[in-house]
Amino acid sequence: MTLAPRYLRGVVAGFCVAPSLALAQPASAPAGPAEAGKLTVEAQAARTMQARNLAASCAVCHGTDGKPPADGPIPRLAGRQQADLVELMFNFKNGKRSGTVMPQIAKGYSDAQILAMAAWFADQK
Ligand code: HEC
Repeated sequence: MTLAPRYLRGVVAGFCVAPSLALAQPASAPAGPAEAGKLTVEAQAARTMQARNLAASCAVCHGTDGKPPADGPIPRLAGRQQADLVELMFNFKNGKRSGTVMPQIAKGYSDAQILAMAAWFADQK
């Protein structure tokens, strides 16, 4: 086990305490058959919070909410297409694209976590 993913997991676990507590609460029962399988407003909000907390790990380099200083060397993540961000992360993760730090960082996240973070960054304007 390398240091970086362990560090990141620690950070992620720390950030996720509140949302996972929220998820531990029983969700209110769906109103009827039409509602079955849909997320409650609370469950959706908890997922958004989890994605935001995952994305907070990126802020140290990519800036708060994925908005780095405009004149800096680090690429902006906020407001970009989710599909583009997912592709970039998958390419780092599977070794198609090299980089100084991102290949190691991307390997620390599951595909589902990458999808969630990318959706969250896409929503930041
Ligand atoms: C230690 C600083 C650092 C952290 C933390 C970091 N990044 Fe990066 N990121 C970089 C650098 C530097 C690059 C340029 C590629 C490289 O050298 O690895 C980059 C590039 C990227 C790119 C490619 C952008 C493009 O237009 O090519 C994406 C997407 C990205 N990072 C997403 C993330 C996400 C999501 C996180 C949080 C899970 C994250 N980064 C955390 C430094 C960082």
